[in-house]
Amino acid sequence: MARGRFITFEGIDGAGKTTQIDALQRLIESARIEVVRTREPGGTPLGEKIRGLLLGDEMTPRTETLLFFAARYEHVEQVIRPALARGAWVLSDRFTDATYAYQTGGKGMSGADVEALEAWTLDGFQPDVTVLFDLDPVVAAQRRTSRAGEGDRFERESQAFFTRVREAYLDRAQRDPKRFLMVNAEDTPDVIQAQLEKEFKPWL
Ligand code: TYD
Repeated sequence: MARGRFITFEGIDGAGKTTQIDALQRLIESARIEVVRTREPGGTPLGEKIRGLLLGDEMTPRTETLLFFAARYEHVEQVIRPALARGAWVLSDRFTDATYAYQTGGKGMSGADVEALEAWTLDGFQPDVTVLFDLDPVVAAQRRTSRAGEGDRFERESQAFFTRVREAYLDRAQRDPKRFLMVNAEDTPDVIQAQLEKEFKPWL
């Protein structure tokens, strides 16, 4: 059986990824292909515990970065690689690009340190496609405040923080245009869904 595809979804908080991942999952499943829907931080029982720490507890950016990679290593070894090997498609809400965007862009961790951690834990393993939902942080903030609750530790960051995160994402996309698929998150959900269908249907 052919190896499955690994697709990740990225963007600042409030960009509307969830609706589109749902729609793409339905599209792939309608072609009778197994889909493993997952997320970071999280994706394994241990990873979900680490997620609780990351989203709730105050910590230094360095500890945060290490915890994201600890959770990610478990995720890749226990869930993602086995799923791809049996031919499933893996759809992950965030992956390593988020660490470059949030911890390097947002919090000022060195990109070289993140690269070293990535090389040590993942050994060159990368998504086949990364869908980047690009959105103005002002619009994203409006969307977040219309949701219930006060948000997690990251969602409470400043607009300047999200501007840096967005720029770091765009920089990642510019360096690796073959892997990234850009989505304008201000388009309507229907328009975005049609764009993704057009992109992925030929693969099914
Ligand atoms: P997410 O699941 O998208 O949040 P929610 O379900 O509340 O929309 O991601 C959780 C937060 O973790 C998000 O604000 C981005 C952040 N994050 C990082 O800072 N670095 C990372 O490597 C990852 C994967 C996520």
